[in-house]
Amino acid sequence: MKDTVHQYLQQQKALYGNELYLSREPDSLPSTSPVIDKSISYKEIDDFNQSICNCMECPLGKTRTNFVFGVGDPNAELMLVGEAPGKQEDLKGEPFVGRAGKLLDDILRAINRKRGDGVYIANVLKCRPPNNRDPLPSEVEKCEIYLQKQIQLVKPKLIVALGRVAGKTLLKMDVPLKELRCKTHDYNGTPLRVTYHPAALLRNSNFKPPTWDDFKWIRDYLSQA
Ligand code: URA
Repeated sequence: MKDTVHQYLQQQKALYGNELYLSREPDSLPSTSPVIDKSISYKEIDDFNQSICNCMECPLGKTRTNFVFGVGDPNAELMLVGEAPGKQEDLKGEPFVGRAGKLLDDILRAINRKRGDGVYIANVLKCRPPNNRDPLPSEVEKCEIYLQKQIQLVKPKLIVALGRVAGKTLLKMDVPLKELRCKTHDYNGTPLRVTYHPAALLRNSNFKPPTWDDFKWIRDYLSQA
């Protein structure tokens, strides 16, 4: 059995180098393999991106520079969700790359995580609203299904909504952030917490201690999940 798996992996390595592609066809795996691999590859999530990146379902399709799909580990246990791309994100095509994004990376580092390694980052809207206004319900209605599909693919253990707008949009609860924080909500079967948006921390450093409490909770939750 061990030899069969070893041989199989050697063959895969010869074919694909260090990337491990697992076929969905059970016949192509060693027939006695007990391993049920639920992981998805970068290719699978990228295929989904390719299938939607020319979206014109709402008027933001016409004003965007780039469609901002999401970035990170396709098998992440933690998925961070912001509201929508800002100017830098629109220009680069990647979420949270401006000042707020750098702060987010620092926060992740403080809980021994980083984007792309156990973490996936996306937004509710994939295109930038003009002047960074809040997402409109009509835009969310068209775009949220893309996020839902990303969640279905990545299967995170925890979703963290960054900021009141992302939280209230996902939870359909128009309440202040303090009523959304420190509770574990349910988003279509996945636990969801809400914390401050990193841009809010740049505006008001008083929000840093409670955010740090939230991220310590996240760290401890994931270490037990
Ligand atoms: N704010 C967000 O909510 N998302 C980003 O990607 C950048 C800033």
